[in-house]
Amino acid sequence: MTVSLDLDFVRRQFPALADGYVYMDNAGGSQTLKSVVDRIGEYLLTSDVQLGATYRVSQTAGERVAAGEAAMARYINAVDPGEVVMGSSTSLLLKILSWTLSQKFRAGDEIIVCHGDHEANIAPWQDLTAKGIAVKSWLMDPETLEPDLDDLEKLITPRTRLVAVHHISNILGTINPIRKIADLVHRHGALICVDGVAYAPHRAIDVQAMDVDFYAFSFYKVYGPHYALLYARKELLDQIPGINFDFIDKGAYRFQPGNVNFEFAWGMTGLPDYIKQLAARHFPDEDLSERQSIERGFDLIAAHEEQLSARLLDFLNSRQSVRIIGHPSADRNKRVPTVSFVVDSMNSDTVTLATDPHNIGIRFGDFYAKRLIADLGLIQKQGVVRVSMVHYNTLEEVDRLIEILDRTLPE
Ligand SMILES: Cc1ncc(COP(=O)(O)O)c(C=O)c1O
Repeated sequence: MTVSLDLDFVRRQFPALADGYVYMDNAGGSQTLKSVVDRIGEYLLTSDVQLGATYRVSQTAGERVAAGEAAMARYINAVDPGEVVMGSSTSLLLKILSWTLSQKFRAGDEIIVCHGDHEANIAPWQDLTAKGIAVKSWLMDPETLEPDLDDLEKLITPRTRLVAVHHISNILGTINPIRKIADLVHRHGALICVDGVAYAPHRAIDVQAMDVDFYAFSFYKVYGPHYALLYARKELLDQIPGINFDFIDKGAYRFQPGNVNFEFAWGMTGLPDYIKQLAARHFPDEDLSERQSIERGFDLIAAHEEQLSARLLDFLNSRQSVRIIGHPSADRNKRVPTVSFVVDSMNSDTVTLATDPHNIGIRFGDFYAKRLIADLGLIQKQGVVRVSMVHYNTLEEVDRLIEILDRTLPE
């Protein structure tokens, strides 16, 4: 028997959804879990002191922050909590990574960046040209709109030190085969840095299964506050010079000057707990480990998301005037419900201006994936129209959007 997601339960965990507004700009930022907000409040109201002292409240604060880091490490299936670096945003964490890691690189070394990426995983590497490092572009295949592994193989040389690539493009919604890419990159002795921002809200993250060296994502798109995580394989992290004070010479703290945001570290324990609760609620008779709960929870999410994609894509595919920018099918193994499209004879901003008055939040633009939008020739079009859904969206909400689009778009 297939178990379907209990949407009433899901939506109750996100108080903002009660206002009836249709939030479909989730790839920009998702709504926040009450459990996360409660824990942020709990930290600030009951343990807002400096860590590391001998008195009781300071001990509690330290335990909460450590528990937050450990929970995040388990959430992404890292081997060690010391592999998790926290920061204010993915953009900043990747900038810190490129700055520090490049101290191990030499002039003449090469880096490959993928043109489907958000600029956060391009610009920090591009900046290294100032150090004499060559940066090559891995273009998306214009037919499939996917990064082609044969193309990557042609770009890699013995001087390639790192390949930067996205797990899912924030425009296309297509899931890239990260394990295959990582295997190829590692066969050539290079490192892989993956932007997981557009993937993290939709699927369980398993850094060991993907065999990645670096993986980053932002919690404000995964039901939490403006805070972000960088995974770095321990043996690599230990070799990279940090940016903190000299006397801080161990672990992830070397990359967290001023330390982490304590209340967010504790607050984010609400995320794995929510996914585990989902699994427990839907599979009450199964004795699931924490990892299995996270995977089963996201299986439920993926199945529901596939229905959302299918409803919207069926409509869009039925319109002659619409071109989907990304995978045309809803298959959960291929895509998430981040659906972009352009319309003949209408610029993308015109479409969203028509939906705005109906209390539906979608948006148009390049979403900082500027190279992809330029390569696709969509700058003049004002980029794409993007409808980015997550598991708390409902089929009724998709129907509301379709009703407006049906009136707005030419046949
Ligand atoms: C795919 C992708 N990568 C990276 C980022 C940058 O994340 P942050 O705002 O945390 O720097 C974004 C933000 O929109 C994104 O969509």
